[in-house]
Amino acid sequence: MAGKIPQPFIDELLSRIDIVDVINSRLSLRKAGREFTACCPFHDEKTPSFTVSQQKQFYHCFGCGVHGNALSFLMEFEHAGFVEAVEDLSSIAGLEVPREQPKPGEQAHLASNKGLYALLERAVKFYRSQLLQHAQASSAIDYLKQRGLNGEIAREFEVGYAPPGWDSVRSALKLPQRDLIDSGLLIEKEDGSSYDRFRDRVMFPIRDARGRVVGFGGRVLGDDTPKYLNSPETAVFHKGRELYGLFQARKSVRKLECLIVVEGYMDVVALAQFGVRNCVATLGTATTQAHLERMFRIVGEVVFCFDGDRAGREAAERALNNSLGVIREGWQLRFMFLPDGEDPDSLVRREGAGAFELRVKEAQSFSEFFYDVLIKQVDVESVSGRAKLVDLARPLLAQLRPGVLRQMMQDELARLAKIAPAHLGSLLGGASEVATAPRKPVEKEWQNLSLVRRALLLLLNLPSLAQKAGDGSRFRSLTLPGMPLLCEVLSLLNERPEMSPGALVEHWRDHDNWRHLVRLMSAPMVIGDAGLEDEFDGVLSCLDTMLDEQRVDELLDKEKGQMSHQEKQELSRLLLKLQSN
Ligand code: GTP
Ligand code: MN
Repeated sequence: MAGKIPQPFIDELLSRIDIVDVINSRLSLRKAGREFTACCPFHDEKTPSFTVSQQKQFYHCFGCGVHGNALSFLMEFEHAGFVEAVEDLSSIAGLEVPREQPKPGEQAHLASNKGLYALLERAVKFYRSQLLQHAQASSAIDYLKQRGLNGEIAREFEVGYAPPGWDSVRSALKLPQRDLIDSGLLIEKEDGSSYDRFRDRVMFPIRDARGRVVGFGGRVLGDDTPKYLNSPETAVFHKGRELYGLFQARKSVRKLECLIVVEGYMDVVALAQFGVRNCVATLGTATTQAHLERMFRIVGEVVFCFDGDRAGREAAERALNNSLGVIREGWQLRFMFLPDGEDPDSLVRREGAGAFELRVKEAQSFSEFFYDVLIKQVDVESVSGRAKLVDLARPLLAQLRPGVLRQMMQDELARLAKIAPAHLGSLLGGASEVATAPRKPVEKEWQNLSLVRRALLLLLNLPSLAQKAGDGSRFRSLTLPGMPLLCEVLSLLNERPEMSPGALVEHWRDHDNWRHLVRLMSAPMVIGDAGLEDEFDGVLSCLDTMLDEQRVDELLDKEKGQMSHQEKQELSRLLLKLQSN
């Protein structure tokens, strides 16, 4: 058993990632005012009621009531366990998941990742040998032949075969069950026994950029589902970071200058067989920022290759969105779309490598594709359409790092929107023009809420308010419902003032307070932004008055004679103060 994941790490993780990216790489979010919306992935609907708040780092569906932070989303959407979700997010954020020292008796079995790499290396050899020797491997060999793979490329990519049994790997590798489970090769059952994850599948070993085996992708021989089974996230395997084929590409091209990102394992292998050696595939996930950073550390140009169908266009838009925050000067990012119904595998077999490379040459530039996507949504022939174009582009351009690239993208927008560049600059720079709303009369409903609720609601909308209350521990003695929770919230925010509400609630995932907090967080806020601070001041001063009153009662309860001189002074000071309020 690995040790527990420390809470401060989870705080850090949730502060590093943006829930909007996490969800947007899985559903297409649209900006609507301050929030993002989509049709809810958790129930059937035609009009969007699923909203994501970037500021709160929280999602909520007004239709079916689901809600949570980025971790909850992954757990729900990917059917992932908590630990898996933490690992997924960490790999997107490029963080290692630390573990608390395991208690004595639950020592980690694999002393280091070294053991894990060695184990996986043996598994590569085992699966490979099974393809060549196993009595039932002929079906796999026939399948690979029918797919057009030659022996040479199968050897280079170390394609193997997982035999059909439930216990082949353990009996062949003769290693401790625990280690095999930790490596992802065995699946552990509730009763502690285990069985082979990969059975009767063609096996593609996945190596990291340095050539170490980190996991496997296994394909069924026919049309069964799931078509592919991948290793789970393990100590060495992080889907959001690895790229299939990167190791082979680096090995076979002396000076890599460009990488082509395709969707499937088979695409990488087929292209390599035809001599297009600079291809990689993500492991069935959208391209992450970590992927981009990794590739651009190696090459100056990355070409995304997508299917021409709707799913392909959507995947391309997600890749585009994910790239906005990371793209830098000098990074050449381009997009290409294949004819409908083709994938790189089928296309290179039909047209050959030359034609495929020609398509790569003609791929759209980042800026072309960027504006292509936006222009499809408006009518650039009309003035209002061009105004809408500027509106659509504004939040996206704002995500780009300031610099030459952003300037060039703005110039392009000026050209498309037919606006003078200088004029456009002032339009785009005008994000701060949002007028501070005048303080609205405080709604009656609001006044009917308890003080503790009001305090929590305000903090969940603007966590930085907590600083006004110090660590809040002085309120602990007030016997009000919810006060212990409010005190904990204040003390947490005092330690980490930048914590988002979504990260804050994470402290109570398996606790009743989770329910209370998320309900408050999903409630509409009747106080406008400009009024939050005053309102919080008001709540604090009410609480302080209550403290004073409570103290006065305590003192008055004492027999006069038993009061010390100091206490008498305190009493008169408090009475004076309360009168003047
Ligand atoms: P072939 O159908 O054999 O040509 O596969 P492919 O490599 O062309 O894959 P495809 O384009 O269908 O899918 C792209 C990638 O998505 C695959 O390489 C996998 O990484 C992933 N993928 C596809 N199907 C599944 C699945 O059922 N489960 C998982 N986990 N990943 C999948
Ligand atoms: Mn395919």
